[in-house]
Amino acid sequence: MVSEILLADDEATFRETFTKLLQEEGMTVTAVANGTDAINAIRKEPYAVAILDVQMPGADGIKVLREIMKVRPETRVVMITAYGTVEMAVDAVKLGACDYVMKPVIFEDILIKVQQHLRHLELREENQELKRELNGRFDIKQIIGQAPVMQQVFEMIRKVAPTKSNVLITGESGTGKELVAHAIHSLGSQNGKRFIAVNCSAIPESLLESELFGHKKGSFTSAFEDKKGLFECARDGTLFLDEISHMPMSCQVKLLRAVEHRQIIPVGSTESVEVDLRLIAATNKDLAKEMKAGLFREDLYYRMNVVGIHIPPLRERKEDIPLLVEHFIKKYNAEMGKQCRGVSDDVMRLLMNYEWKGNIREMQNVIERAVIFAEDDVIKISDIGLIGSKAIGLSEEHENLHAAVKAYEKQHICRVLNRYGWNKVEVAKALDVGLSSLYRKIDELEISVGKRRKRGRAG
Ligand SMILES: Nc1ncnc2c1ncn2[C@@H]1O[C@H](COP(=O)(O)OP(=O)(O)OP(=O)(O)O)[C@@H](O)[C@H]1O
Ligand SMILES: [Mg+2]
Repeated sequence: MVSEILLADDEATFRETFTKLLQEEGMTVTAVANGTDAINAIRKEPYAVAILDVQMPGADGIKVLREIMKVRPETRVVMITAYGTVEMAVDAVKLGACDYVMKPVIFEDILIKVQQHLRHLELREENQELKRELNGRFDIKQIIGQAPVMQQVFEMIRKVAPTKSNVLITGESGTGKELVAHAIHSLGSQNGKRFIAVNCSAIPESLLESELFGHKKGSFTSAFEDKKGLFECARDGTLFLDEISHMPMSCQVKLLRAVEHRQIIPVGSTESVEVDLRLIAATNKDLAKEMKAGLFREDLYYRMNVVGIHIPPLRERKEDIPLLVEHFIKKYNAEMGKQCRGVSDDVMRLLMNYEWKGNIREMQNVIERAVIFAEDDVIKISDIGLIGSKAIGLSEEHENLHAAVKAYEKQHICRVLNRYGWNKVEVAKALDVGLSSLYRKIDELEISVGKRRKRGRAG
């Protein structure tokens, strides 16, 4: 951590005495006699804490503070104010100073403040360290894939991660778009900062704009106070715009502005706010088609698609299936304290030939279920549930038409439930039935999967 202190005061005696005191406490001090020197110093290198006299020749303390907030906003700034300049000090706090002390300065007071600020920075660094560790969980190695198409995806991730370029990730549902977004974040300079995911299709159109860009108190009926938007919350980190094709046109215009100018305007505000972050968007739709249909702005598409990463569906990289099976068996063994060693040959044949419309998510759910039900250390056809029953011709077991239809219905609903990670709203939509009918069917057909897997949201 930078433990250097910058001290800017035009009074030589104060400067010298205080410098000595700080040095006795083991701190490194750069002392300057005017604002211009302070600005030059801060431009040259970072300081943990800056102590600035409000009134100085050259640039005054406020000017120095403004510059610090521009070039080194992480600096903790303490202002020293003389009688009659308290208002200026209050302004300084609004501009980003952390604290102020009044003249005549009591050295011990200011020393305690400096120590508190250093401790604060230390804690913040520890915190970032922790976050970095957490983010480390999304290591690229956890994305399973040996197929050449996946190797290309990894190569793209490695190349784009250190940059700040916008990324558009495309791929069918369940192919791992969010996982790839996490990997880009963790490998890039945003690591340790926040990764915020927002599902554009899950937020009502009327709220999406304020959710992304924030709002001012009173700008609409339920805006009881100022609220920061996700763009500001993800500052210096990554904002992941999931299902971007669902973003309404009005919001697309605002997003374009944010992307082009790196500035946002909160709802109900007239002032723009600078935002510096990495944007990653994802979609399982064909955006070219959406553009043709007038549902997605072309200019926004080109802005977002600076780097495009396409994740191929699982059926186009079948060689990865055995690896994924092994990966998920290990994962669920660990979670459930089981000791499955693998799957039988006929199960592997079945998994290799299955269509996997819900891609990796569907496979993960199938394996999770299999690990729950496996009684042996090898997973058998009967353990892998209804995709397995398809292989042994379940509907032929029943001559009675009603029973056969019921069995088929159960099998079909299960497959779709797995495909959508048990998200019943989406499943009902896919089956084209009402949500209450779906619940009734689940009940009637006694469908269960032990632990029901939901689609996760990270942030
Ligand atoms: N290559 C992979 N290796 C290991 N796990 C994977 C891989 N791809 C996806 N997964 C897992 O599959 C699940 C679905 O992945 P993810 O949520 O990233 O997909 P998605 O493309 O965002 O899906 P959707 O379009 O439905 O939002 C997650 O639990 C993820 O960890
Ligand atoms: Mg997703």
